[in-house]
Amino acid sequence: MAAHQQETRRTIRSFVRRAGRLTTGQAQALQELWPVFGIDFSDELIDLDSVFGRAAPRVLEIGFGNGETLVEQAAANPSTDFIGIEVHEPGVGHCLLRAHAAGISNLRLSRHDAIDVLRHQIPDASLRRINLYFPDPWPKKRHHKRRILQHDFLQMLSRKIEPGGTFHIATDWQDYAEQIDELIGSDDSFRLSERRTHGGGDPLDRSTTRFERRGLQQGHKIWDWRLTRI
Ligand SMILES: C[S@@+](CC[C@H](N)C(=O)[O-])C[C@H]1O[C@@H](n2cnc3c(N)ncnc32)[C@H](O)[C@@H]1O
Repeated sequence: MAAHQQETRRTIRSFVRRAGRLTTGQAQALQELWPVFGIDFSDELIDLDSVFGRAAPRVLEIGFGNGETLVEQAAANPSTDFIGIEVHEPGVGHCLLRAHAAGISNLRLSRHDAIDVLRHQIPDASLRRINLYFPDPWPKKRHHKRRILQHDFLQMLSRKIEPGGTFHIATDWQDYAEQIDELIGSDDSFRLSERRTHGGGDPLDRSTTRFERRGLQQGHKIWDWRLTRI
């Protein structure tokens, strides 16, 4: 069986849909702003130039939470296009409200499992950078298999990033950090360009995120990596 077939057969479920309540504003945003910023799921490749109405470098964030960091980056970099993927509906609603308030047009959102979106909708070598900030740590050992960052996922990301593009990771969980170090060590599609361990004061080319603040309050350390696509 080809490696690609093996990969598509395996499905990790890296999230549980939390029953978080939508505020009235978020529900309204999902109705009114989704047609402006939303990319619906389908199993066909999307033409990113036509989605954004231009050709530009593209950054994708996986699991953007409430979108704070994502909207901030999109507003600060108008000549780059940003794509965010998040399954938590209140987070998506929150992000839509922020994007609208910021008056930006270089952002699109998906509210579907990132594994499927990447596999089916994102063309190969179409991204300049992918960000994975504080992926769900699944702390119990029997749940480690639900961690999104595994060999197959890393292989898929490497296909989606253009040569010379980058993959940024951050976590506040020591044993996830150890697992990530091992994964990077056994991978040959990326080169490790930078790795930092810090106490919150030295994020690598990103702003502090909500989950990072939560981890820091609990006394966690932070690990950051930048990998470059060979
Ligand atoms: C721990 S939170 C971190 C949120 C944000 N990046 C931050 O640092 O504040 C992880 C997020 O990833 C989302 N997530 C997990 N698996 C996902 C998947 N397969 N597709 C899309 N989002 C996912 C979760 O819903 C959650 O909001």
